[in-house]
Amino acid sequence: MSDPMRPRASLRTAVVWEVLKDALDRKVKAAGSDALDVLDTGGGTGNFAVPVARLGHRVTVVDPSPNALFALERRAAEAGVADRVRGVQGDIHGLFDVVERGGYDAVLCHGVLEYVDDPAEGVRNAVDALRPSGTLSLLAAGLGGAVLARALAGHFTEARQALTDPAGRWGEGDPVPRRFTADQLTELVGKAGVEVGAVHGVRVFADLVPGALVDTEPGALDALLRLEAAAAELPAFHSVATQLHVLGEKQEPGER
Ligand SMILES: C[S@@+](CC[C@H](N)C(=O)[O-])C[C@H]1O[C@@H](n2cnc3c(N)ncnc32)[C@H](O)[C@@H]1O
Repeated sequence: MSDPMRPRASLRTAVVWEVLKDALDRKVKAAGSDALDVLDTGGGTGNFAVPVARLGHRVTVVDPSPNALFALERRAAEAGVADRVRGVQGDIHGLFDVVERGGYDAVLCHGVLEYVDDPAEGVRNAVDALRPSGTLSLLAAGLGGAVLARALAGHFTEARQALTDPAGRWGEGDPVPRRFTADQLTELVGKAGVEVGAVHGVRVFADLVPGALVDTEPGALDALLRLEAAAAELPAFHSVATQLHVLGEKQEPGER
């Protein structure tokens, strides 16, 4: 997604990018303006922020990591979009210390809820940053994908541990502090005042397939990308996806 010259990377991001790009295109038409105001909370080094800016939108990235923001700045400059990407050091819990409440057409919260102290407050803040009818794009680690991956690697006890652990962690060495089911994520965004438009399973197969199969078989990467896209929309695969993407629209208080 972010760099068509690195096709292997597209396995991680293609599904989310297609869904997000379509949502932003729809928003452009509805808003009657080519350039949207987009907030990327925990946007890191700009995996999504830079491609979104390349579409012509103004992107604010809020992230606590100065190193990530430094890399973001360099990446935006290399992509020729430095004038449309603003990096701000901050935290999703103190979001309105650094950005305007209700100031954005779209808010991205990708790969962040796993790490924050209070996911419900994180989602509420992301939603409060939206203008009325604004678009929320939420991506978080899926519980079932981790269970499947641990089991297929022969770590059966860890797989069972993840299944029963309230945070979905497979053990002390698990680098991810928290994982979610699709139901948990849709409940979080629903409670924050967002109507869910679509849920997609991300990386259903990509992390389970030996890299050599994808890298050496002609056409395999393309076929796998198409398989991922086809499976992403099917609820049956949500429960085994490595990540879950929820797209929604902020409702007015009267609509809730
Ligand atoms: C896995 S990276 C995801 C980066 C980017 N969103 C992406 O999809 O490529 C997680 C990011 O969340 C940031 N982060 C961690 N805790 C955060 C918090 N409390 N508020 C905002 N961002 C946070 C980290 O600094 C890091 O850049």
